[in-house]
Amino acid sequence: MNILIAYASKSGTTRQAAEMLADLLTSHTVTLADLEKTAPVPGDFDYIVLGGPIRMGKAHKALKSYLSRFDAELCAVPHTLFLCCSIAHQFEYYTEHTFSQELRQSADEAVYFGGELDPAKQRGLDKLITRMIRSSIEQSMDEDEEAMLPGLLPEHIRMLADRLHLK
Ligand SMILES: Cc1cc2nc3c(=O)[nH]c(=O)nc-3n(C[C@H](O)[C@H](O)[C@H](O)COP(=O)(O)O)c2cc1C
Repeated sequence: MNILIAYASKSGTTRQAAEMLADLLTSHTVTLADLEKTAPVPGDFDYIVLGGPIRMGKAHKALKSYLSRFDAELCAVPHTLFLCCSIAHQFEYYTEHTFSQELRQSADEAVYFGGELDPAKQRGLDKLITRMIRSSIEQSMDEDEEAMLPGLLPEHIRMLADRLHLK
């Protein structure tokens, strides 16, 4: 299969996730596309994996503009959606607010790839916001044993790769 992995990324975590997936899809022909640099035509592919990061509750601008340009064409190609974000329990909310209803309903799945909160990878205000999100999660960890600091979730990426291998 000719698979497009289209992503946007601000500080590199989503790029890392997209590259990890591309490396695992050894039985397919994969095109990795950074949506800040290119906007591939969906109809040129047999399958599309599409996503990006959430910041301040919003999807990356390059992903949003690709979605508004190609929504109908994307719905016509089999696809999986994904997001990178650090507040795991907001994943469904972000998915609903990022992708159109048609695109979500026609998707095989929407996958949570996790998200990093590393102040060392951020600058200026972003560094400060990263520290604030981290400390609010750390505070909730005291109250809730289930809570944990986020990171990329390679096992979610591997599960998606396994499913795509069977196609
Ligand atoms: C300035 C800033 C704002 C963020 N806002 C949110 C947010 O609103 N919700 C969330 O779940 N994660 C948020 N995050 C976490 C990012 O989604 C996470 O760092 C992600 O891995 C970034 O992906 P990227 O490196 O590809 O840009 C934020 C991170 C930063 C640096």
